[in-house]
Amino acid sequence: MSQTTATSSQTDGTDRMVRLRASMSARAKAIEGMIDRLLPRVEGGEARLIDAMRYATLGGGKRLRGYMVAEVASLFGVAPEGADRVAASVEMLHAYSLVHDDLPAMDDDDLRRGQPSTHRKFDEATAILAGDALQTMSFDILANPLTHASADVRINLVRALADAAGAAGMVGGQMIDMEGEGRALSLDEVARLHALKTGCLIRYSAEAGAILGQASDDVRKRVSAYGRDLGAAFQIADDVLDATASAEELGKTAGKDEAAGKSTYVALLGVDGAAKEARRVAEQALSHIDIFGPEADRLRDLVHYVVERRN
Ligand code: IPE
Ligand code: IPE
Ligand code: MG
Ligand code: MG
Ligand code: MG
Repeated sequence: MSQTTATSSQTDGTDRMVRLRASMSARAKAIEGMIDRLLPRVEGGEARLIDAMRYATLGGGKRLRGYMVAEVASLFGVAPEGADRVAASVEMLHAYSLVHDDLPAMDDDDLRRGQPSTHRKFDEATAILAGDALQTMSFDILANPLTHASADVRINLVRALADAAGAAGMVGGQMIDMEGEGRALSLDEVARLHALKTGCLIRYSAEAGAILGQASDDVRKRVSAYGRDLGAAFQIADDVLDATASAEELGKTAGKDEAAGKSTYVALLGVDGAAKEARRVAEQALSHIDIFGPEADRLRDLVHYVVERRN
């Protein structure tokens, strides 16, 4: 590649990231506003619970999953109110998974999004309950007619989220992750672990936008395959960052995976091998959305973002 081409493609890449970050930060603002409205503070005995739920959901985060819901929904002209509600719902489900992931019985992590993790800020019982209540609230939001006028759309969202978050999805993956500590899993086993613990919820986030948009089965499947591959690449990148980034960059403890004896792509392929695999899987995501025109460019930029990010 000539010097000029290299420089201009770097500029393209930089422009692309600048555009994507502006788009992500605008949507993050709308999603956080929605979470804030859906979770008003209360008086009385439950005040501490609501405070912990607000702490776990409103204290930062990239809002990748909510962004994907809203961005895919916009391809189908979905009204922002419904899309933002579904985006807030998946961010609540995700926040619950992080609160429980950080508990002493799981990854025992003190730091999350640059702040004390929820059980450190409050206490373990409150963190468990806040996670439980965030999970049920995320389904309540989907079932509410304000999310979509069609009961069919709402039940499809509920089922898709239940599949993605439960024993055949995120929770099942967390079990495999725990069970694999201190034991060498094969590459296929780690790929499955990633697909379940992280891929399913990211796949759902893309698919939810297509469900809201009442897309055809074929289009829904393509969007879902895009989310699946993006999610797989995202978790490989998370493993690479755990081994290569600092706690300041990450806002969470670094080097935890090796210390806990986790089976990761880095443990199996080394940092460079894992980074290369993340790029390969991410590229695969692009092919599924080639049916769309420039209106899907931010979703294409996101593919580059998940493997290039430093936090
Ligand atoms: C962290 O997810 C947990 C994983 C599945 C790797 P994110 O990296 O999306 O966390 P936030 O929401 O930005 O804090
Ligand atoms: C967690 O994976 C995935 C979840 C379902 C929460 P990790 O344990 O690697 O996530 P981090 O690194 O703590 O964010
Ligand atoms: Mg974990
Ligand atoms: Mg963890
Ligand atoms: Mg991690």
